[in-house]
Amino acid sequence: MEDTGTIRLGNGNFEFPIIEGTLGEKAIDTRALRAKSGCITYDEGYGNTGSCLSKITFINGEKGILKHRGYSIEDLAKNSTFLETAMLIIYGDLPNQENLETFLQKIRSHASIHTSMNGHFDSFPSAAHPMAILSSMLNSLGAYHPEMSTNNREEDLAHFDETAVILISKVRAIAAMTYRMKMGMPFIPPADTSYTSNFLHMMFSEPYNEYVDNHGVGKALDLFLMLHADHEQNCSTSTVRMVASGGANLFASVSAGVSALWGPSHGGANMAVIKMLEEIHASGDDGSKFIEAAKKGEAKLMGFGHRVYKNYDPRAKILGKSSESILGSMGMNDPLLEIARKLEQSALKDDYFINRKLYPNVDFYSGIILKAIGIPVDMFTVMFALGRMPGWIANWKEIAENPKSRIHRPRQIYIGETERSYVPVNKR
Ligand code: ACO
Repeated sequence: MEDTGTIRLGNGNFEFPIIEGTLGEKAIDTRALRAKSGCITYDEGYGNTGSCLSKITFINGEKGILKHRGYSIEDLAKNSTFLETAMLIIYGDLPNQENLETFLQKIRSHASIHTSMNGHFDSFPSAAHPMAILSSMLNSLGAYHPEMSTNNREEDLAHFDETAVILISKVRAIAAMTYRMKMGMPFIPPADTSYTSNFLHMMFSEPYNEYVDNHGVGKALDLFLMLHADHEQNCSTSTVRMVASGGANLFASVSAGVSALWGPSHGGANMAVIKMLEEIHASGDDGSKFIEAAKKGEAKLMGFGHRVYKNYDPRAKILGKSSESILGSMGMNDPLLEIARKLEQSALKDDYFINRKLYPNVDFYSGIILKAIGIPVDMFTVMFALGRMPGWIANWKEIAENPKSRIHRPRQIYIGETERSYVPVNKR
């Protein structure tokens, strides 16, 4: 294979190395372009820019392939669990029995948050969005672990294993407490059960009435979390890496990731999908009018389209099946699932969507599962954040452990005013 590429600019030819990934992706390494030629590359939205070398996750968007550390998402979804996959994503290999048990035990032992943090929840107005609370509380959590949030690379890395466990475990308590605060319900202390059972217990148990999972809700939730665990350089993960590149600690970096995830073009789409399906249902439309509106640019089919996937998102395939099976086992018949299926069928045979390669993404079916479980719509993106935590942690680790890691600092092309002289306010 050719190991250099040439860029011709005016009269100059400039040679650059070609980098090839382990699964054949190629990139021209233009890091020296400006120094050699005076030019920079312009790629607004970074659709064509590799921002890092990473060993965590591989996506082939054209073929609809997603792998974590070499394992396909289908294989993991069939055989693994959220926390085992979290270990794989963070540490690079599937754990042996002993390491897995130790990790699970640590997760259990960090299930509650410092009681002084309970007071933080009282200071949010009840109308506060759960994502605003989550982002704030994750940064506050760092304040309760100052030895792990020093912004000194070596010290933060020395505490990495514990910090990772604390974040994965406690984010669950923060989510449940946010829900209960907003509902005016007392906080429920954690129980010594599995990750998702404990979450469901902290969310839905009452002091006088323990939540009982008779329908495999914990299993469906575990799958949901696993399917969200990492997705290479998406908006929130790139944000985490960006913040980490300046030397910020893991708590601060994932808190920024939560803020990035909140947007409706990213993780916030899972809320937007359910709102869209509810509106379609309330209007009596079977989805066809909505498809027409989307084609005219009057609406966006939320949960459809992806920057990288130009094929079916493999996670959406698994979640579509999972939504049917959880509704079946709960004996529920949600008309929104039928509308979603109709929207999908219509879109997949419509030229507008075919030509633009728009397929269902991870958010299209996930809300139907969360709704069936009883999670309120404004908590949907918080659930995404619970799932994405291992990916953010792994990406922070990759930056922090790289001695050659540089601060992320893109350039720009300035297109503003050129030269102006100051005019005093009374003369303007
Ligand atoms: N409905 C209708 N048309 C769409 C949709 C959609 N959901 N998504 C893209 N298009 C159209 C665009 O209008 C554009 O049309 P044009 O070429 O005629 O101008 C074309 O498809 C290409 O779209 P872009 O906006 O250039 O695609 P981009 O890669 O920038 O955006 C994104 C990807 C943000 C995911 C977009 O598809 C979208 O907004 N989808 C809906 C929101 C959503 O589901 N987000 C979750 C993504 S997954 C995640 O982040 C977890």
